[in-house]
Amino acid sequence: MSILIRGGTVVSATGSALADVLVDGESIAALAVPSTPLAESWSAVAGTVIDATGKYVIPGGIDVHTHMELPFGGTFASDTFETGTRAAAWGGTTTVVDFAVQSKGASLLAGIEAWHAKAEGNCAIDYGFHAIVSDVNEAALKEMDAAVEAGVTSFKMFMAYPGVFYSTDGEIFLAMQKARANGAVIMMHAENGIAIDQLVAQALAEGRTDPVYHGLTRPPELEGEATSRAIQLAKVTGAPLYIVHLTASQALDAVTEARDSGQNVFAETCPQYLYLALDDLAKPDFEGAKYVASPPLRPREHTEALWKGLRTNDLSVISTDHCPFCFKDQKELGRGDFSKIPNGMPGVEHRMDLIYQGVAAGKISKERWVELCSTTPARMFGLYGRKGVIAPGADADIVVYDPDAHQTISAATHHMNVDYSAYEGMEITGRVDTVLSRGSVVISDGEFHGKAGHGRFVRRGLSQYLV
Ligand code: URP
Ligand code: ZN
Ligand code: ZN
Repeated sequence: MSILIRGGTVVSATGSALADVLVDGESIAALAVPSTPLAESWSAVAGTVIDATGKYVIPGGIDVHTHMELPFGGTFASDTFETGTRAAAWGGTTTVVDFAVQSKGASLLAGIEAWHAKAEGNCAIDYGFHAIVSDVNEAALKEMDAAVEAGVTSFKMFMAYPGVFYSTDGEIFLAMQKARANGAVIMMHAENGIAIDQLVAQALAEGRTDPVYHGLTRPPELEGEATSRAIQLAKVTGAPLYIVHLTASQALDAVTEARDSGQNVFAETCPQYLYLALDDLAKPDFEGAKYVASPPLRPREHTEALWKGLRTNDLSVISTDHCPFCFKDQKELGRGDFSKIPNGMPGVEHRMDLIYQGVAAGKISKERWVELCSTTPARMFGLYGRKGVIAPGADADIVVYDPDAHQTISAATHHMNVDYSAYEGMEITGRVDTVLSRGSVVISDGEFHGKAGHGRFVRRGLSQYLV
């Protein structure tokens, strides 16, 4: 079954050109200059022709930070793999990498198996896993080797959330030594959770219980401090380090300094830290709870630093940290005590659109948009070649994007299984038109044509950025 995508501008991380794209089965077969005899010959044989005139043809988005069904704060993230990957497809994301959780006292591989059980047969698009290491012991360190062999080549650790996912510096050090040896990437949630817990206890004791205190008890300095500490631990061990969901200029400064010194340090940020801010957490009537995530939204001045970091490549990936909790039944758990509000925000559906606003506003180029949202995530996490590029032999994960369309983001029209949108009413330029996942049209003409179970687990290789 062949599909011809005709007349569009193929946008890659390195440039853009008018090109027709021929898809054969699950893969990209060839590209050709439009109207040449070669391109014309394809029109005659293609089973389906998609007219992409006036549109961008880009590699499908890769969201390397999602939490479907994450158990957290006494509840579970409200998107399952079925609903979450369907919403991702609507938004032009064709691969997600989710976090399999090692529970305290349990095996790391058992956590990965549990995540396979949740995802298998349910996903609309392809998926991979990182593993959250929350119990560092001899067995778990050994299992990190087996995980890498099984295509789980990156491990998230937490300097935050004492008593939940938190690891001590010593534990982090041991896991980093292991990563240095087996080629994995250590992903770090860098906030000083021990100090934060003191500030949280003090705020609650003084009756400061509203959602805004979630932000005020997690100051940016404590993200900067943890980021610097993680960088030093990585330096001594020689492990590559990837800072997840970076929000604060202090943390960005530490990453920039490390990168300038030649250290293998990388960082991502997320759309919420580019468009939302601490004042959203201060919304009245408990509305601020919708914006509770960790690290928290920051004062506005940090957002400009983040856009600068995206331009200079000190921030090299944009993920969503998609971790939705319904306002009505789940965020409610923290009314009267902000520390009990489940941490996390929805976002998997709108990453491509939201970052395209940076293109529309002249902050980044369309090639950088593709690089940040697809190509670098693929290269960083061992997916490149199959994913993150429109080239012969790559998986036909392709998005046709209409740069001139207009839409308004709303919970009334989104597809995530959550009862609010953090961007309610935001009017944006650009819209996903058609989405192919491994050669199957999953979105077109405003309809979902995919199915649960089409998405396959992707065994990832090692990061291309390792030396
Ligand atoms: O608030 C957040 N970010 N929730 C998800 C878990 C994490 O730390 O990434
Ligand atoms: Zn985190
Ligand atoms: Zn996360």
